[in-house]
Amino acid sequence: MPSTNKPLNIQKIREACKSENRQLIGNISYFKTIDSTNNWLLENGHCGDICISDTQSAGRGKRGNSWLSPNTGNIYFSLCWCFNDNLKHRSLLSLVTGIAIADVLSDVGLSGHGVKWPNDIFWQQKKMGGILIETTNQSQKFVIGIGLNISMPDNINKEIDQAVVSLLEAMQESVISREQIIIHLIQRLVQRLDTFDNLSFDEFMKSWAKWDILQERLVSFIHRDIKISGSVAGLDKSGRLGILQDNGKLDFFSSADIKLDKSPT
Ligand code: BTN
Repeated sequence: MPSTNKPLNIQKIREACKSENRQLIGNISYFKTIDSTNNWLLENGHCGDICISDTQSAGRGKRGNSWLSPNTGNIYFSLCWCFNDNLKHRSLLSLVTGIAIADVLSDVGLSGHGVKWPNDIFWQQKKMGGILIETTNQSQKFVIGIGLNISMPDNINKEIDQAVVSLLEAMQESVISREQIIIHLIQRLVQRLDTFDNLSFDEFMKSWAKWDILQERLVSFIHRDIKISGSVAGLDKSGRLGILQDNGKLDFFSSADIKLDKSPT
């Protein structure tokens, strides 16, 4: 699959954001390359600021992993957001971000995708994107980082230890501009974050159910050096994943690197 090397038309994104949600969005900084867009906002960002880069030299992923960010065709995006002091649903933030991204992918015509709890974007068992949320000492300032594979070089699979896919591959090269995707992403995210303080858990669950790819699936993962396996049994109010274990015990987990055990029947 060919990758595109065109730099982003950042002006188009800035213009689109001026007309919508202008009071919620701050500066949009754009780099050809930077260490990490999350890093940049953690150090320099104010509430509502956005940072986008064509490549990252030290992109960060979950659990201290790196996020390979070598080519211009993908999206490396971070948004700095501030909440009120008594944020009720902090633990649902990455799930809500996943819902927003899944909605964006639908907006641009993709189907067959979903969110793999807690914060991976998947298309047909392959990873298309990930979310990394970080905070500073100012505890109400969050940096929401999103990496989305849009167009990747053919040999990238060799460098990554899991199956990955790009949007162009999934959509069989229908032309979608990165600018358009980012504009949708900003709109969908800001809409969800602006109402996040008053999130109703029932409404959240309705959206989650639409995109949750683990529903009732058999899964396994390592938790404190022990292998857990069982079937997925929903979320609790803190967004923890319920697992009905093979031994009949129901437990809830707040994070895990889930492996899908079998295909649905
Ligand atoms: C994951 O491990 O799945 C999360 C990956 C998050 C990567 C994005 S790319 C933009 C932002 N900047 C970073 O350094 N990481 C996030």
